[in-house]
This record gives sequence, C-alpha cells and structure tokens, in this order.
Amino acid sequence: MPRAVVTGAFSNIGSAVAGELLRRGFGLHTLTGRHRPPGFEQVTVAPLTFESEHLVRELEGADVLVSTYWIRLSQAGKSFDTAVDDLKLLIDAANRAGVRRFVHVSVSNASLDSILGYYRGKAQVDAALRESGLSHAIVRPTLVVGPHDVLSGNIAWFLRHFPAFPVPSGVARLQPITLADCGRVIADAAEAADDQDIDAAGPEVYTFREYVELLARACSVRRLVFGAPDWLALASLRLVELFLRDVVLTREELLGLKQELLLSHSSPLGSESVERWLLDNGQGLGRTYINDIDRHFGSGAAAPIGRPE
Ligand SMILES: NC(=O)c1ccc[n+]([C@@H]2O[C@H](COP(=O)([O-])OP(=O)(O)OC[C@H]3O[C@@H](n4cnc5c(N)ncnc54)[C@H](OP(=O)(O)O)[C@@H]3O)[C@@H](O)[C@H]2O)c1
Repeated sequence: MPRAVVTGAFSNIGSAVAGELLRRGFGLHTLTGRHRPPGFEQVTVAPLTFESEHLVRELEGADVLVSTYWIRLSQAGKSFDTAVDDLKLLIDAANRAGVRRFVHVSVSNASLDSILGYYRGKAQVDAALRESGLSHAIVRPTLVVGPHDVLSGNIAWFLRHFPAFPVPSGVARLQPITLADCGRVIADAAEAADDQDIDAAGPEVYTFREYVELLARACSVRRLVFGAPDWLALASLRLVELFLRDVVLTREELLGLKQELLLSHSSPLGSESVERWLLDNGQGLGRTYINDIDRHFGSGAAAPIGRPE
C-alpha cells in the first residue's frame, strides 16, 4: 500500500486531499495540531512541529508528502517569513527521509517580485522546492470554496446580518474552485511522476461583486451590494472586527483581490461549477461567524475542522 503524509488532514484543503488519497488506496499519516475525528482511526496522527529530527522520523517510509501548511496572519510569533523557514525545514526533512515526492500547496500568482508577503513567501517556498532535487508538484489554488472556506463563509455571514455590503470599487475578477475539485487536482499531482507547476482553478470567472451577489442568492437574502472606496470598505471592517475580535480581511488580502491574484491564466483543471455548489449548499453558509484567529491560535486550535471523507 503506498503511504502518504498530509499536513492538516483534519483542516480545510488537507481534509479533501486526505479523503481523496484514502479512496485511492493510500495509507495515511497526518501532521496536525488537531484531534482526530471519530471514525478515522485508520489515519495515524503526529504533531506538526518544525523540529528537524521529529520531521525526518515522521516522514520516513512516505511515498508522498502533501504540504498544506501556511499561515494567514502574523500572530503568536508566526509570520510569512517564519512559515517560509518552517517549510524549508520540511523540504530538507523530506529529502533526508527519502520521501519520493513532495506536493506543495502554493497559491495562484505567487511571485518573488510581489509586494505582498503571502504571495512572495509562497514563491520563495516554490523556489526552494524546485532547487531541492525532490520529485515535486507545486499546486496553486485560487479561492477554494467549500464548507470550511473562511472568506465565502464570512461574506455569507455578513450578508445574513447586514442590509448592505460594500465591495471595493473597480473590476476585480476571481476564479474559484470547489474543495472537492481542489482535493482531486492535488491528489492527481501526488500520483503523477513528472515535476509540475499547476493552477487549481474552476471553470467560472466572476467579478468580486458578482461573487458577493451569488453568495446573497445562495443564502436567499436580498442585499444592497455597492461599490465603495477601499478606505471605506476597510474602515467599516475594522469597526466590526472590534466586536468580532478577529481579522476579517487584511489590507494585503484586499490588494491581492484587486490585483486579480485569485484568477488563473491556464486552462482550468477544476470542472465542478462553484455556482452550483453554492446554490446547493448556501443554506448552511454563514450561519455562524468563522473566527480565524480562534480557529488557529485560540480555543478552536485543536478541534477538527474537516474530515477526510
Ligand atoms: N483556502 C483557500 O482558498 C486557499 C487558496 C489558495 C491557497 N491556499 C493554500 O492552501 C493551503 C491550505 O489552506 P487551508 O485553507 O486548508 O488552510 P488551513 O485550514 O488553515 O490549513 C493549513 C495548514 O496549516 C496549518 N496552520 C495554519 N495556521 C497555522 C498556525 N498559525 N500555526 C500552525 N499551523 C498552522 C494547519 O494546521 P492544523 O492542521 O493544525 O489546522 C494546516 O495544517 C495553504 O497553504 C493556503 O495558503 C488556500
């Protein structure tokens, strides 16, 4: 039986990849800070600790490693720079442990020249992986839409709770992919033999405004969606964040959206309609606010988010 190690098998994208690899007959080990949900006793678990000898031990005997690790916000001593260093350590450990193939979940339009730390850091990891000599795939999702998606879920929450929704003025397009399609694209990359650098994007392109309007339809609410200057959109968010005790959208994330970094420039590998998924599942979206800080740094940091089914 081929053996895969996946980081975050009980989190968002990691759970979809893990489910797909289990269906394809892989034995599965995960590195995560979360408890294993009941019913998944066949998945072995160890902490995702960035200590070299620990990582080598956990990776020994793995045919493939799928790394989903990244941080969204600088917090508790973690930053994009520390995440880059952590992932370089993981690449080195994979090499030392004799892992056959390394799949890095990067992001669409990662670039060493980007002024945005998220996209620049991802490109630095991509470069380190290319230089490592490991057989590898770099998979670049755009926006991954599913039941645990923070951005779509929280837009839905805002739409359910407020009569109007400001979107940044100007036309910013995005090309989301469903979670199931993304899991499949990453699992295909794990099973391939050649070095790959591929986007994971879906078949549909929306302007951000159209996407918010689609979410409103999916939630069956009628709302005023209006263009607003960036400062107004960010100022209103900062006000709400005081009550939510979270960071809803960073200035960098807004800039990434405006620079159309969630848009692919390749033929889409995703085939499932995001619109269909949202309309079928919208009634469950945005029922509760997803507090991302709590999910990763607070009381929610050990609870499973997703299940590898
Ligand atoms: N979601 C999207 O729309 C999207 C789009 C483009 C690219 N991506 C990339 O896809 C990858 C997976 O994203 P995701 O949505 O599945 O994110 P996620 O649920 O936050 O999971 C990411 C992984 O990183 C770990 N992690 C996150 N924050 C951490 C922290 N502060 N300290 C320690 N570990 C931390 C998680 O650990 P636990 O297992 O303990 O939770 C998990 O293994 C990321 O690299 C992300 O950049 C995502």
